[in-house]
Amino acid sequence: MPPPTPIEPKAVEAITADATTAEATPAGQPAPRGFRFRCIACGDLTDSAVQKFRCSRCGDLLEITNPNWSHAQGSSAPTPADLKATWKQRRASLSPVDLSGVWRFRELLPTLENLHHVITLREGNTPLYGLPQCARMVGLPHLFAKHQGMNPTGSFKDTGMTVAASFARQAGFRWVACASTGNTSASMAAYAARGGLRSLVLVPEGKISWSKLSQALDYGAVTCQLRTDFDGCLRLLQELVLRAPVYQLNSINPFRLEGQKTLAFELLEQLDWQSPDHIIVPGGNLGNSSAIGKALLEMHDLGLISRLPKLSIIQAEGANALVRTLREADGKRLVTVQAETAATAIRIGNPASWKKAIRVLQATGGACEQVTEIDIARAKAEIGAEGIGCEPASAVTLAGLKKLLKQGFVKPGESVVLVLTGHLLKDPGFTMEFHRGEPLPAAAESDSAFSELQALRHPPIVLDATLDAVIRTLEQQEKSNLQA
Ligand code: F0G
Repeated sequence: MPPPTPIEPKAVEAITADATTAEATPAGQPAPRGFRFRCIACGDLTDSAVQKFRCSRCGDLLEITNPNWSHAQGSSAPTPADLKATWKQRRASLSPVDLSGVWRFRELLPTLENLHHVITLREGNTPLYGLPQCARMVGLPHLFAKHQGMNPTGSFKDTGMTVAASFARQAGFRWVACASTGNTSASMAAYAARGGLRSLVLVPEGKISWSKLSQALDYGAVTCQLRTDFDGCLRLLQELVLRAPVYQLNSINPFRLEGQKTLAFELLEQLDWQSPDHIIVPGGNLGNSSAIGKALLEMHDLGLISRLPKLSIIQAEGANALVRTLREADGKRLVTVQAETAATAIRIGNPASWKKAIRVLQATGGACEQVTEIDIARAKAEIGAEGIGCEPASAVTLAGLKKLLKQGFVKPGESVVLVLTGHLLKDPGFTMEFHRGEPLPAAAESDSAFSELQALRHPPIVLDATLDAVIRTLEQQEKSNLQA
């Protein structure tokens, strides 16, 4: 494929101007060439999707499918070796789509009519870190963190947003919109701004971190703080997209999930295509786990990997709809909850993609667990102490791993990758409260938990501005280090 030419500012203007005149209606969006929309429940295949991204027959969610990808042997799909070589070669390219850690894998993404439509901030390309201290602590030889917080707006959302926003622009939409616990809105606002689109954000008032809210404001979104929770915001958005020509960019949108698949492609490439035994991911609205699972199954089908890792999903105990759905309803109907957790990113009680998530849990043999507020705070501090840090929602992965090890689901000697979904700086309020020793909300700390947490706390020390005071502090720290 010849290298694509970078988008000229003029070309962007032309696309944007077209979009204002040929404004898309909620009537439908065609499937990309060679692809179809498939209902996850009844399997109905269609060539266009309405803005709710739900099946017109049974009302369930749609996914994007390429009929040529399954059982690739003998079909027109490229060979695994060709794909691996092409993706590797692109790392040396200077073109914007090749520099994107998402579009670099474009053979396994829906095809844009013209690569000039790509809206990219060089997303993806995130590091895979070793976590040696945490590995030692839990007794595993290999523990890795795939840090999606190192994306341009600080969360994994960017990998999905580059794809869905690009397709929104291609379809001629002028407005994009989302309901959010903060990260989706930050990401959507950035990609909309880069692509010359207007963005509308619906967030629950007082329930998202200021850092995330400030991103949406800076990137120019029309930001509405609604007096409800995330689930209320998402419900309202579903009605809005049927009444107004806005393109919804929640993870109900299957183009988002296509982009989020690339986390798994990039991870396996970083592991030289040797599957880890386990991948552990936080669960909120359950789009990300569904996307990673879809990617693993596609890679397996295409022969890119020979063994499926087990994909496990961890939720906060106060936002445990999937855990309860599996335990109380055998995964047959959704058990919704009134969500409450200090990990505000996953404060979701009515997850949209629950069926997709159950499907990937079953297909990969993964587990679903819940962790307490104290577990989350402790795990977040332990990851921080490795010098990389993450936001509270991401720390459920380490907390969940400890539980899965205790249950014998993860075995000593197995390799594990934790997906860290957001950057430490996404929620400085949580971090400051923890280190200052403020009581954790929604959780009574027992005496033993308090002293354990105390050892992880590093509160700021206020001193007179004298050399003596600083030296005394150094000496005290050294003494307590030796005693520890
Ligand atoms: N981790 C972080 C940091 C998140 O922001 C989210 C979701 C999740 C995990 C859960 O991912 O919903 O795909 O299961 N945040 C959404 C938002 C809901 O609006 O930013 P999921």
